[in-house]
Amino acid sequence: MALREIIILPDKRLRLVSEPVKRIDAGVHKLVQDMFETMYAAPGIGLAGIQIGVAKRVVVMDLSKKEEDHKPLVFINPEITWTSDEKTTYEEGCLSIPEYYEEVERPERVKVKYLDLDGKAHEIEAKGLFATCIQHEVDHTNGVLFIDHISKLKRDRVTKKFIKAAKTAGNKTARTAKQVEA
Ligand code: NI
Repeated sequence: MALREIIILPDKRLRLVSEPVKRIDAGVHKLVQDMFETMYAAPGIGLAGIQIGVAKRVVVMDLSKKEEDHKPLVFINPEITWTSDEKTTYEEGCLSIPEYYEEVERPERVKVKYLDLDGKAHEIEAKGLFATCIQHEVDHTNGVLFIDHISKLKRDRVTKKFIKAAKTAGNKTARTAKQVEA
């Protein structure tokens, strides 16, 4: 396993639409291992391939609480197939937009189909934090960021801040572990 660098705003790669995985080979297994290592080290609760610069539709997630054992989840080629009319709001963050949090309203429940690491197809229903997180990650595979779901004023403000920070030498990406970042 290897710790990979997480790319951050305003890196243009975050806007790429990732390619579907055609074959789940050793390279995909290695990618998933690296993504878990990187996500746990950050720490975060979810990570999409593009966040380490790999434009493949691969998502890892772990929503377990600190005192619990890890519950690693892998989604290959995840696709949202249904969303509920009911909405819910979470304060979201993103490992690619460190130390920025904003409330985002999304469907409370979704159905998602995906392949597991053995290439087996699944369709599950997710709700609550799980539903929010999978929507956030599937957005990443489509080049969409959570700040696209907030007001233009707030989005422009945070984008400007990150553009400015990227120009400053030694842009540190220290994060607090208090909020969830995915
Ligand atoms: Ni994210």
